[in-house]
Amino acid sequence: MKLLIKNGTVVLKDREVKADLLAEDGKIIKIADKISVKDKCEVIDAEGKHVVAGIIDMHVHLREPGFEGKEDILSGCRAAVAGGVTQVCCMPNTNPVCDNAVVVSYIKTRAQQAGLCKVNPIGAITRGQNGEELADIGKMKEAGAVAISDDGKPVDNSYIMRLAMEYADGFGLKCLCHCEDKNLVNGGVVNEGYNSTLCGLKGSLRAAEDIMISRDIALSESLDIPVHICHVSTYSGVALIKSAKSRGVKVTAETCPHYFILTDDIITGYDANTKVNPPVRERRDVEAIIRGLQDGTLDCIVTDHAPHSLKDKQVEYNLAAFGISGIETSFALSYTYLVKSGLLTLPQLMQKMSFAPAEILSVEGGELKEGAPADITVVDLSKKYVIDGNKFISKGKNTPFNGYEVYGAVEYTVVDGDIKYKSKA
Ligand code: DOR
Ligand code: ZN
Ligand code: ZN
Repeated sequence: MKLLIKNGTVVLKDREVKADLLAEDGKIIKIADKISVKDKCEVIDAEGKHVVAGIIDMHVHLREPGFEGKEDILSGCRAAVAGGVTQVCCMPNTNPVCDNAVVVSYIKTRAQQAGLCKVNPIGAITRGQNGEELADIGKMKEAGAVAISDDGKPVDNSYIMRLAMEYADGFGLKCLCHCEDKNLVNGGVVNEGYNSTLCGLKGSLRAAEDIMISRDIALSESLDIPVHICHVSTYSGVALIKSAKSRGVKVTAETCPHYFILTDDIITGYDANTKVNPPVRERRDVEAIIRGLQDGTLDCIVTDHAPHSLKDKQVEYNLAAFGISGIETSFALSYTYLVKSGLLTLPQLMQKMSFAPAEILSVEGGELKEGAPADITVVDLSKKYVIDGNKFISKGKNTPFNGYEVYGAVEYTVVDGDIKYKSKA
């Protein structure tokens, strides 16, 4: 079956063009002015809308197996396509942990049954994410893992991290590093600073993140092996990555909408929807993260979609789970705060949300061009709406962005040429 997306503004890697786009057998076969199709064909009229490469969110938590009360693969994939996401990479902090080929295959099978977006499992670095013994990296790669990470937990032991980088590199996989010095965090739940004192909440220093970013950069540099830094939240972390990149270290890095939008003064001590790890920080961090996105220090925008149930969040701040349910709001928030405000162009934003993740993980997609998979999102940039977590498709309603007015509604999400989401409004 063919799919014709007509009259839209197509966002290519480095520019926007008014054009039609034709897909057939799951691939983009033509992008040109006024395409006419004689035989049977599905048509999307994108007049007044933008046609972008499907978002690739390389950092999400789908929670299945084990924590289906928070999210499962089906609900997570439904939320993903509603957010314009055509491909996700899911973190291994499930139960059992995704530290072997059986769990990798299970996730892939469940994703196929869901039949919505593409799902690439990320295998654990260590067995049970216990930081002690390496997981079955080669077998997980064979089963379809696209990277390894102990996300949710740091790998404390630097020698284990070294081994992980070497093994993973031997299989052509990257380590995605959750950078946190747990001893230094010492039970902190928010950024340590003026606001943590004001709220009487235990703080965590930027250094707890920066020390591990430094370590992982040092390992990467010494071994000459690529490394990827997850969810950068500190101005000083951005500086470390920038300086490493200037020396030619093969480091890539991601950040999330909450780190370039929120500051810790929104934390009051009772709404745990603001609780996330690493914590949201201060104005100078937000500014440095935006600059890092602009100058290429930060390669990509991910969500760290971390759905939790009400009972995990509606408790005292100290006891609440860390995490933000972000996959349904990432495009609109990023568009509103980065593009509409003039900080990035739309092609630049799509490089952060789609092209760069595909490159970093060597997965398909990430760009609208002839011959590429027809993973496409149609957005209405002029449509304004107010975020309401209770309306999320995800089981995780935990967002600190309730009441935020944003632009950029997802109208259609197309995966391999099939429409997987169509907005009701
Ligand atoms: O806020 C977070 N939530 N940070 C993490 O590292 C883990 C994640 C989760 O799994 O909930
Ligand atoms: Zn993490
Ligand atoms: Zn995570």
